[in-house]
Amino acid sequence: MASRGNFNSRLGFILASAGSAVGLGNIWKFPFEVGAGGGAAFLLIYLCFALLLCFPVMTAEIAIGRRTNSSPVGAFRKLGFPKWSGVGYLGLASGVLILSFYNVVAAWSFGYFFEMVRGNFSIGANFSDYTADLIKISIYGVLFMSATAFIVSRGVSQGIERAAKIMMPSLIILILGLIIYSLTLPDALAGIKYYLLPDFSKLTGSVVYSALGQAFFSLSLGMGALITFGSYLKKDTNIVSSAAIITVSDVSIAFLAGLMMFPIVAYLTQGDLQAISQISGEESFIFQTMPAVFESLGSTLGVIIGGLFFLLLSFAALTSTISLLEVPTAFLVDEKKIQRSKATWLVALVVFLVGIPSMLGAGSSSFFADFIRLPGMENSMSFMAVVGLVGGSTFLSLGGFLISIFTAYVWKKRNFNEEIYYENEGRLGRLLRLYVDFAIGVICPIVLGILCLVTILNNYFGISW
Ligand code: TRP
Repeated sequence: MASRGNFNSRLGFILASAGSAVGLGNIWKFPFEVGAGGGAAFLLIYLCFALLLCFPVMTAEIAIGRRTNSSPVGAFRKLGFPKWSGVGYLGLASGVLILSFYNVVAAWSFGYFFEMVRGNFSIGANFSDYTADLIKISIYGVLFMSATAFIVSRGVSQGIERAAKIMMPSLIILILGLIIYSLTLPDALAGIKYYLLPDFSKLTGSVVYSALGQAFFSLSLGMGALITFGSYLKKDTNIVSSAAIITVSDVSIAFLAGLMMFPIVAYLTQGDLQAISQISGEESFIFQTMPAVFESLGSTLGVIIGGLFFLLLSFAALTSTISLLEVPTAFLVDEKKIQRSKATWLVALVVFLVGIPSMLGAGSSSFFADFIRLPGMENSMSFMAVVGLVGGSTFLSLGGFLISIFTAYVWKKRNFNEEIYYENEGRLGRLLRLYVDFAIGVICPIVLGILCLVTILNNYFGISW
């Protein structure tokens, strides 16, 4: 056991898991999903999914991990259901796929930090040249992956827990500072209105599904990342309340990221709602538009705020890439008995190679840029977008669905409940635990099952109703 490692404290576990959850998904992806999904309407659905559906699944993942002291593949076997280790392998595949493109976006963000510090604000207008600059992006990509691997190779308490303890508080301070700043910009209020007043006419089936995908992605659920982190958790920790804190922190930081971004977009568009929705709904939004905003602040302030912003983004990304790398690493350590640091660098190398087509698809290769057109899609998708859809959305919600079925009907609720029961849980804790117990067997399988089926048919086969 000692060789696997442990979190030193409950706070360390919560910070590392919240660090895994809070990432590019919150600061880069969430605002543009809100923009594309009609503002506040998307936000509402997202909140419901996160709190009602994802929170019980998170509890289940942590419980499975802690009960078995194993990473996902071994966990199902240890509980006595070797066939279910397929879910673990599905998780491994998602982890590799997600990290492969995530590292590319993280590399862009990290590179932007240096561009801002150099005062190169025109980078926003030249974003596509920047992402097509293979040498530059590869260097940033290698640096970022190496930073991740360095931390993971140091182990759970000395690497992952320590890094989270430093980076998470810094991230929160940076984000609060930037919110205060963005709220003082002219037209900030129009942005807040777009963000907080729902327009339900924008709500379509695909918006609902992207809200679900976003909730899973943002909470790092469905691939066993939290099974793995849970496996390093001490027995006397309250799982339900920890999961609740992680969920609420992640949702709050996504919410705060919106609060930081929408006033800025409104400032840029002089409060024009139509334009806010258009600009903020773009995937490349923060990379293309933010530098111009920083430029307008003047050279000194622009360098400071712009630098801090992309530093924040890189920090957020790093605590997430750590958890993504940890899952396949833990698999090699637990199942293949490979030494931790060897396993880490091996996985990092493989994932980096898998990510090369994603890197190429962002400007330098038209083959990977227009990689495939799925039957359910209007336009062709880039390699990165396909990997994101398969690994970062479909596999995760499918994984979440299977984990809820497994927990309630295979492992059985009695065992699950035994693992999440906590002596001094208090009234709220008890209520939450009873909700989790109910939701994991009823709400999660039904809602996730239906949504998975509908979107798989729709996206991959072009069948819609
Ligand atoms: N949650 C992270 C984000 O929002 C991404 C992430 C890290 C993730 N680990 C994960 C997503 C595991 C799914 C599964 O940026």
